[in-house]
Amino acid sequence: MRDADDVIANVRRGMLPAHIYNDAEVFEAEKERLFSRAWMFVAHESELPQVGDYVVRRVMENSFIVSRDQSGEIHAMFNMCLHRGMQVCRAEQGNASHFRCPYHGWSYKNDGRIVGMPFHKEAYGGEEGFARKGQRLLPAPSLGIYNGLIFVSMDPDAEPLEDFLGDFKFYLDYYTKQSASGVEIRGPQRWRVKANWKIGAENFAGDMYHTPQTHTSVVEIGLFREPKAEKRKDGNTYWAGKGGGTTYKLPPGTFEEKMSYVGYPDEMIERMKEQWSQEQVDVIGRDGFMISAASVFPNISLVHNWPKVAEGDDVLPFISIRQWQPISADETEVLSWFVVDKEAPEEFKKLSYKAYLMCFGSSGMFEQDDVENWVSLTNTAGGSMARRLLLNGRMGMLHDDSPVVQPLTEDEFCGPGVAHVGYGEYNQRHLLNEWADYLEKPAPVTENIHVGAPNVDGECSSETAAQCSSEKAEA
Ligand code: FES
Ligand SMILES: [Fe+2]
Repeated sequence: MRDADDVIANVRRGMLPAHIYNDAEVFEAEKERLFSRAWMFVAHESELPQVGDYVVRRVMENSFIVSRDQSGEIHAMFNMCLHRGMQVCRAEQGNASHFRCPYHGWSYKNDGRIVGMPFHKEAYGGEEGFARKGQRLLPAPSLGIYNGLIFVSMDPDAEPLEDFLGDFKFYLDYYTKQSASGVEIRGPQRWRVKANWKIGAENFAGDMYHTPQTHTSVVEIGLFREPKAEKRKDGNTYWAGKGGGTTYKLPPGTFEEKMSYVGYPDEMIERMKEQWSQEQVDVIGRDGFMISAASVFPNISLVHNWPKVAEGDDVLPFISIRQWQPISADETEVLSWFVVDKEAPEEFKKLSYKAYLMCFGSSGMFEQDDVENWVSLTNTAGGSMARRLLLNGRMGMLHDDSPVVQPLTEDEFCGPGVAHVGYGEYNQRHLLNEWADYLEKPAPVTENIHVGAPNVDGECSSETAAQCSSEKAEA
């Protein structure tokens, strides 16, 4: 990447080289250094409720089968046949005990183990010539699960997922742990936008400043109570661990009153109180900040909002998870899921889904407003003039780098991380600083994995000794 040191130094002081939002070289560096190392969301466990359920998801250009095997365990397997490399599973989701490659018919169990090879004896000399034991579809180098959210990393030495998420787990629970049963998710809807992936991630992480301008029409038709400028600035933005987000300041009242103000029925509020820690309850009840949009580095975002779904003043909350799947420097595939507490009443689920579709589904009103800006930004960033421009991403910071407002104290906000009230680009800077950290470090060294190599003395040629020994024990 050209001028990498300058780019990184400028990003660190909040002055953003405009071309990073549309530059093939920057994109290559992201592929090599960031997406090859960070934890990437692929699916939620509730998408695989039964044994044999699977979905096919991508991490950059790598296709993975995410499956629940016959014993209930979750796997993420590289979707490429060990024989000549055909994509083994062509469907997007389904239920199967086995996958058979369409090219020559090798077949694999839903945990990845190879079981069938046509004409095994004639073509390979049977087990003696090619032992199937120990051969399996290549697993994702690392796999981690938090609250049912399944992540993979291309780095075999990735730090544990929970360490990576760090204190952001505290906030993730609001979206994905509202009862002991966890959430169920519907989707994803997918669509492509001609915009760079970082813009959406930054926007959801902390851009409270755009709401009154970009979403004027949504406010004007009276769909929301809160997004008005004067309301939005009373909320805070927080950054903790690998993520951060925005909140709305709610009118005074108890935890129960505040939750019911955004439309939760009493029975759901009771369950949330049981699930969440005292601090998690206090962020809303004592401090009055209601969790809204957020992003987890690098490319997942979460939304929690409460529009009016029918005539009258009643609002109803919805939750959504979305992923900004990079396609190129100027194109992103958006994957968008509806998320709801498994134990929520049916009527709530129905109306909440409607609220989600109305705001952030593929044709959602917010979605339409936002993307037009992002496409335009990406286009402009691709030209030669953009190479001369440093964008000002310093909102909330004075000339000498001191903050415009002091961070909230523990008495004002008991969530982890650093939080500020009002407009600021703290979170966008955090996100880009993480980005800079990754771009500075070289990509992980990848070792050859000799899947499919002939076995010697009955030794497993599979990629991990652990799998090998479990297979031996089973045999
Ligand atoms: S490529 Fe899959 S069986 Fe030949
Ligand atoms: Fe927006």
